[in-house]
Amino acid sequence: MPQGLGRVLISREEIAARIGELGRAVAREHAGRVPLLVGVLKGAVVFMADLIRTIPVPVAMDFMGVSSYGSGARSSGSVRLTADLSMSIEGRAVVIVEDIVDTGWTLDYLRRNLETRHPRSLRICALLDKVERRQVDVSLDYVGFAIPDHFVLGYGFDLGGLYRGLPDIHILEET
Ligand code: IMP
Repeated sequence: MPQGLGRVLISREEIAARIGELGRAVAREHAGRVPLLVGVLKGAVVFMADLIRTIPVPVAMDFMGVSSYGSGARSSGSVRLTADLSMSIEGRAVVIVEDIVDTGWTLDYLRRNLETRHPRSLRICALLDKVERRQVDVSLDYVGFAIPDHFVLGYGFDLGGLYRGLPDIHILEET
């Protein structure tokens, strides 16, 4: 096992089952529309790739890049846009797809930023929610799993750019 990688917190089977439920909920609540899923780079790429394949209606996809952590493990509270959308979202039914909500600063920033662009609707879908770490109140529309305050790795989650490709979600081993 690579150094720093602890036990599995959420297995690939649990992830797949829950994402199926999220995908059906997104489809149900956007009936008759083509939702635009906006993935938050880079962590949400793996989640996004699985989520779109569970949504049984046409969807569009775009990405935004934000940086808040540098290469460390905890939020600095300052969020910076590193890559912008490639299209206008005016009048679109937008769903932000995020890997995890920790302090909430990233999603608070993204929601405010996207609201200024006049989408028809703006929903937030997060795979993981670290409820007890929240510093800013963000209302989440679709949540995969609420988790305790562990730093997680795998399934898109990284530490210093590593571990994103692991199929399960692990906790960081405390040393
Ligand atoms: P927030 O702005 O504090 O809510 O942090 C959100 C971002 O922090 C996520 O998009 C992740 O990139 C990163 N993050 C927060 N917790 C973890 C974790 O446990 N593992 C990996 N990245 C995390």
